[in-house]
Amino acid sequence: MTQPQLSLSERLERDEIVTFDPCPFALPTGDDLAFLLQQRLHSTAHKNISCNPSDGHCTGFVQHSGDQVLRLRGLMRDFSAHATHWLGKQLPTYASAWQLDRVTLRTEEEATRKLRRTSRNDLLHFDAFPSRPTQGSRILRLYVNVNPTDDRVWVAAETFQAVLEKYGATVGLPTGDHSTWVRRIGQGLVGLFQPTTRKRTAYDDFMLRLHHFMKNSTEYQELASKRLQQFRPGSAWLLFADGVSHAELRGQFALEHSYFVATSTLVLPDEAPSSLVMRQPSHMDQSRAA
Ligand SMILES: [Fe+2]
Repeated sequence: MTQPQLSLSERLERDEIVTFDPCPFALPTGDDLAFLLQQRLHSTAHKNISCNPSDGHCTGFVQHSGDQVLRLRGLMRDFSAHATHWLGKQLPTYASAWQLDRVTLRTEEEATRKLRRTSRNDLLHFDAFPSRPTQGSRILRLYVNVNPTDDRVWVAAETFQAVLEKYGATVGLPTGDHSTWVRRIGQGLVGLFQPTTRKRTAYDDFMLRLHHFMKNSTEYQELASKRLQQFRPGSAWLLFADGVSHAELRGQFALEHSYFVATSTLVLPDEAPSSLVMRQPSHMDQSRAA
């Protein structure tokens, strides 16, 4: 029997990494691309050059002049505008309620950079942002390899559900008043995005514990069944980075845009990580006992 064609949103929600080669929206070229590739991280305290697309404020780079700051700001905002316009047409339901997170320029070679273990990109993990809680929204990430000549190389491994079943109890499922936790997540989905005032929920704390656990677990890093993913120069790829375990092994120069997608706009909201965590038996038991 022929399988019906899955929509893009369903492919993403079923933990696929979807590649677009070549990138289907305008990218910086010529002098603008050369300018981006010349930018350098300010210090190892910054993982990437980061930009808030709402006001263009960029951080984490070595500043030489006012003109440089303005040009970088303009290019990062242009990338955000082009990426978001194209993505919004592909995923209009998500776009009806998504919140734009950060745009990043990734200038460092992933294979050789020195970072503390829980910050390393080359170890398998699900994304969880210490400073930007999602409150249960999903983390959709769009990457573009802007390296003129070299592939960017990732590995992908298990789904969130598989890792949750294996390690959730060890990591420590969210505890406390279950109904309060659910209500706070619900408020996060419908509320206006206010990054500076968004509160961390028990779900955010769990996701960060899981992120650290995975990177610190030699067993998980060695035993997880992995598949190689290679992204050619000029290609783009899209994934829910909280739903498929991934690691960035090699590559220098990428642009990336993150979006917080409300679970109310998903095709499969019951398969979202926040829903899966809530359905874990040990979490339910702890909630009833609380
Ligand atoms: Fe990641």
